Amino acid sequence: MMIVGPISPGQVAFFIGFVSVFAAWIYAEFLEYKKNAFPSKTHSDLNLVELNETVKEDDRAVLLEGGGLQSVSPKARSSSVTSHIFRFLLMEESFLIEYRLTLRAMCEFGALLAYFYLCDRTNLFGDSKKSYNRDLFIFLYFLLIIVSAVTSFKVHHDKSPFSGKSILYLNRHQTEEWKGWMQVLFLMYHYFAATEIYNAIRLFIAAYVWMTGFGNFSYYYVRKDFSLARFAQMMWRLNFLVIFCCVVLNNSYMLYYICPMHTLFTLMVYGALGILNKYNEIGLVIAAKIVSCFLVVVLVWEIPGVFEFVWSPLTFILGYTDPDPSKQKFSRLHEWHFRSGLDRYIWIIGMIYAYYHPTVERWMEKLEETEVKLRVAIKMAIATVALTVL
Ligand SMILES: *[C@@H]1O[C@H](CO)[C@@H](O)[C@H](O)[C@H]1NC(C)=O
Repeated sequence: MMIVGPISPGQVAFFIGFVSVFAAWIYAEFLEYKKNAFPSKTHSDLNLVELNETVKEDDRAVLLEGGGLQSVSPKARSSSVTSHIFRFLLMEESFLIEYRLTLRAMCEFGALLAYFYLCDRTNLFGDSKKSYNRDLFIFLYFLLIIVSAVTSFKVHHDKSPFSGKSILYLNRHQTEEWKGWMQVLFLMYHYFAATEIYNAIRLFIAAYVWMTGFGNFSYYYVRKDFSLARFAQMMWRLNFLVIFCCVVLNNSYMLYYICPMHTLFTLMVYGALGILNKYNEIGLVIAAKIVSCFLVVVLVWEIPGVFEFVWSPLTFILGYTDPDPSKQKFSRLHEWHFRSGLDRYIWIIGMIYAYYHPTVERWMEKLEETEVKLRVAIKMAIATVALTVL
């Protein structure tokens, strides 16, 4: 096996971390096995550990739902983090048993990253050119439709926090599913280099950014949770995989531009709603905030020189040097300027939409209550208009 290119300090650090976590995990499995094989003397301990594990499951459920962290003060959390690191370094047995599943997950994650490295940075596996075949692409796409259709017809009932009624459309299940479909298409687009669907892909990315504005506005407007814990959790969720990929593959962050882009727009929504959030109930304040969002975008992206000025302190993260010699004339921030600029307004539209969503939702409810003939007529009219626009 030949390693292509020099090894970076990050890769060495990853390797050391991975090996020590792996060793800890194997030891934890051994301890667990021993505990189960000779349970008598540690009986009371065992119950405790099991109890802890179920608590952790609950914790995870809350984490995935978003929020919930605020119940524990950040200080209590951070002190427990340092004590966790100490207990890990001391290889404390109860700690290892308690966190056996976490260690296992870390090893699985590390193994995946190691696999990325083997594929991309060594010649262990042969390489090939991307090739696009429309029939194959459409065939795979139909497979996706069939598989999703099987799971899609389940009706979910997301309750509106305002009225307690189910949200009819654009509820969390629907937007998550919409995002999932587009993610599969993004992957297929890149995997096959399907350049002929470039326009569709651009539209999907815009739709995705629209949902960043829509989902985050709804969340912050309703839940009003601007806590540091929730914020940090969100930043972690958006970026941790990318950061590890950059370290292990020694790539630039900008090669995964979709992540910094969504992080940026999520931050913008967070900022827009978080600043002076106690006045969010007032319609005029929201209108002023939306107008300010437009003004900020105009200022940063439309006025020459401002973008470079604003972002230059972050060049060390967001800068990118294209290896292509014909692109050497561009500045290091050129790629970020281009990528972040492509969909710079749509997240604001998503926010506006989120603001009016409850109203439209009420219209929909009214529509569902009208008599059949009128209802069908109205729906047909809406569908016709939408299809015409499309
Ligand atoms: C906020 O936007 C990010 C990026 O698209 C997304 O991952 C996250 O789920 C959104 N949050 C909510 C509550 O919709």
